[in-house]
Amino acid sequence: MNLVLKKKERYSFVLSGGSTPKKLYHILADDFKDKVDWQRVDFFWGDERYVPFDDDRNNGKMAYSSLLTPLGIPEKNIYRIPVSPTPENAAKQYEEILKKYLTNESDQRFDLALQGMGADGHTLSVFPGSVLLNNQTDWVQSVYNSGDQLQRITMLPHLVSHSANIIFMVSGKEKADTLKAVIGGEYNPSLYPSQLFRNNDNVMWFLDEGSAQKLIIA
Ligand code: 6PG
Repeated sequence: MNLVLKKKERYSFVLSGGSTPKKLYHILADDFKDKVDWQRVDFFWGDERYVPFDDDRNNGKMAYSSLLTPLGIPEKNIYRIPVSPTPENAAKQYEEILKKYLTNESDQRFDLALQGMGADGHTLSVFPGSVLLNNQTDWVQSVYNSGDQLQRITMLPHLVSHSANIIFMVSGKEKADTLKAVIGGEYNPSLYPSQLFRNNDNVMWFLDEGSAQKLIIA
């Protein structure tokens, strides 16, 4: 971040949802509070569950409590995904927000996107067999996830893929087989949406032992 902030005024950071990043957010807030000029970082989310902000399932709520509030990030630097008045409208609102922001960005892309991977190989809120897999036109879409029976608002993979850097953080032995398939298996993103990113040269994978146990590191 600091290297980028030597060349740019602002740093755009797309946060991930789910539970994996929570520990990272606490580490950033506790151990890096004075090591980064956080007031020059703008925060976004790759996806959101369409639930009120005060609902524990809301990705924004988790990030506020573990990262944004402890770092004292001002509201003007936080671009939350709306969760009203309808999923479709919320997606269009966010798409307009992103288009306005990135149009003013020198390189028209996010500086960093943090992503997770579900045990089914999904990332963002793009699930196996999703109609969003091949959507190259929209930036943000709403989608129903039968797994948690929630409407979701998600950035589309093509938009996130364009980021300067992408970090996949994956943990848990229950993801080991999926991760092996995602990274080294036959390319079939309809089955494993996270494969959409595996050939990118801007992706780094941060894995714990449990999730990495089926990988053969050459
Ligand atoms: C979400 C996420 C989703 C998440 C994975 C991994 O809203 O659920 O954005 O893509 O990153 O499901 O979730 P865990 O970190 O909880 O395993």
